Amino acid sequence: MAISLILAHPNPGSFNHAIAAGVRDALEGAGVAVWFHDLYAEGFDPLMRTEEFRGTGTDDPLIESHAAEIVEADGIVIVHPNWWAQPPAILKGWLDRTLRNGKAYRFGPRADGEIGPIGLLKARAALVIHTSNTEQERDRRLYGDPLDNLWRTCVFGFCGVTNVERKLYASVIVSSEAQRKAWIADAAATAKAMFAAR
Ligand SMILES: Cc1cc2nc3c(=O)[nH]c(=O)nc-3n(C[C@H](O)[C@H](O)[C@H](O)COP(=O)(O)O)c2cc1C
Repeated sequence: MAISLILAHPNPGSFNHAIAAGVRDALEGAGVAVWFHDLYAEGFDPLMRTEEFRGTGTDDPLIESHAAEIVEADGIVIVHPNWWAQPPAILKGWLDRTLRNGKAYRFGPRADGEIGPIGLLKARAALVIHTSNTEQERDRRLYGDPLDNLWRTCVFGFCGVTNVERKLYASVIVSSEAQRKAWIADAAATAKAMFAAR
């Protein structure tokens, strides 16, 4: 059992980093192997190359190792802030470059009779944790909860991961330290419940 933990935040002192550390500690403390990636610290390049787009891969070993690893992970945890109702660009680039046709999904006749995507990821569960300054109810009412559609349906549903849990912690900007500690504990407990008991 190995969990891929992907963090997209530029500031090592951020709340997002604290969440990722809490999740990592909880999983490793329960004996689960964690493949941890701080995308900014690794210098992950989000810009897809022409040759990659043509399907020949890339000579960047970091990109290739990410693309190989995400297919093999038994579970996936994503941690990111809400930036303009989307993940930071570095994480969008990670999606573009690592979830590849023929590896993470393919197209063909599906069980429902339609021609469409068939998910190939090995992971059966994914946990997406994100933070924002807009509370969940307001986000849903005003903006239609775009991150839920992105992660649950367009990304993980597309790639065959059917069990997707999402945690939104908000509003960070007006939160107390006690509240942030409670959110970190909640994230850690959720990850442990999803991945440590299997
Ligand atoms: C470029 C940028 C765009 C942002 N867009 C949004 C947004 O659309 N909605 C929102 O509620 N917060 C938005 N925020 C606020 C962040 O979500 C918030 O600062 C972050 O979740 C707090 O976590 P952190 O302390 O780990 O950075 C944005 C912040 C930045 C820097």
